[in-house]
Amino acid sequence: MNTKPVIILGIESSCDDTAAAVLAGTNILANVVAGQEVHKSFGGVVPELASRAHQQNIIPVVDEALKRAGVKREEISAVAFTQGPGLLGSLLVGGSFAKAFALALNIPLIPVNHMQAHILAHFIRKKVDSPQSIVHSSSPTTDHGLPTTDSKTPQFPFLCLTVSGGHTQIVLVKDYLEMEIIGQTTDDAAGEAFDKAAKIMGLPYPGGPLIDKYAQLGNPLRYKFPEAKIAGYDFSFSGLKTAFMYFIRDNGMDNTCTTPEEFISKNLNDICASLQHTIVQTLMNKLKLATKELGISQVAIAGGVSANSGLRNALLAEQEKSNWNVFIPPFEYCTDNAAMIAITGHYKLLQGQIEGEETGSKARLYF
Ligand code: KG4
Ligand code: ZN
Repeated sequence: MNTKPVIILGIESSCDDTAAAVLAGTNILANVVAGQEVHKSFGGVVPELASRAHQQNIIPVVDEALKRAGVKREEISAVAFTQGPGLLGSLLVGGSFAKAFALALNIPLIPVNHMQAHILAHFIRKKVDSPQSIVHSSSPTTDHGLPTTDSKTPQFPFLCLTVSGGHTQIVLVKDYLEMEIIGQTTDDAAGEAFDKAAKIMGLPYPGGPLIDKYAQLGNPLRYKFPEAKIAGYDFSFSGLKTAFMYFIRDNGMDNTCTTPEEFISKNLNDICASLQHTIVQTLMNKLKLATKELGISQVAIAGGVSANSGLRNALLAEQEKSNWNVFIPPFEYCTDNAAMIAITGHYKLLQGQIEGEETGSKARLYF
């Protein structure tokens, strides 16, 4: 009888991180991410530069993941890759690599929805101890003592707030592969609100981690920003971005400052703390409404913005206050990574959800 666990190679290339991971069963063996410094000065991801960087990084990243996992190519049972949503040029690099790899080894190919994968990151077993970044990235590679709940996994059904650079969703998770989006942003994503505000302040991309860092030293109640009034569980962040732009312009020309730059440098910590407070409150208010109306108190977060210390602390405070059971992923599984693609591949393989080499990458993909 063959008792060897199924080994899955996960490939992620939807935006500006090239990532590969090796998973045995649900246990992570290696999780490697190469960030792309090239976008830093542009205030956002430049699609063509991202595709080129993926093409340069993909083979070294996969080689490194296999080396760290101590796994030979012939031992891999299946390849899971991000099919979408994301930047098409970026997706094509990971997708083409995965197809060629699966074809060469004659193993199953599993297309994965990136947003579904962010949620299933909660089911990855064992944290990888050492930082697994092989190319310097502007975000920290460890969680530096951030609050986390990584020892337990959510039970179905649960609610997941998925917050990233491109998406903001409240998802009702009924089973591993049975999910329903019950609320989402009607314009900008929460991560985008962080990044655009950072750009207005002249901070490099991605601005979310920097705003978080300065916010921890500031007064969150010093400045007031508007919170959009949107029906149901949906969100809107474009008004906040516009209000923030005028706030910086107007305060930069009051009687205490002569330029916006002077205002920002004198008050950076309080500005960041107040902005972060508004975004976190907006997210929390909708989440509270959903838990109340649906009668579900198991609440998870996922996606890049779930690395935010303000959001994590707000969730833990609500756990105390409202008896929620909160699930916060370890830092390395919040931002884009391939471990989450591999775990989704694991559950799809169990259900026989594999596809032939004709399967395509999709910039827009729903579940
Ligand atoms: O999930 P992710 O890595 O990529 C996408 O799928 O978009 O999320 C990236 C987003 C960026 O907008 C980044 O600024 C934000 O996550 N982010 C944060 C933090 N860390 C990453 N936002 C706020 N606070 C953080 N600590
Ligand atoms: Zn993502």
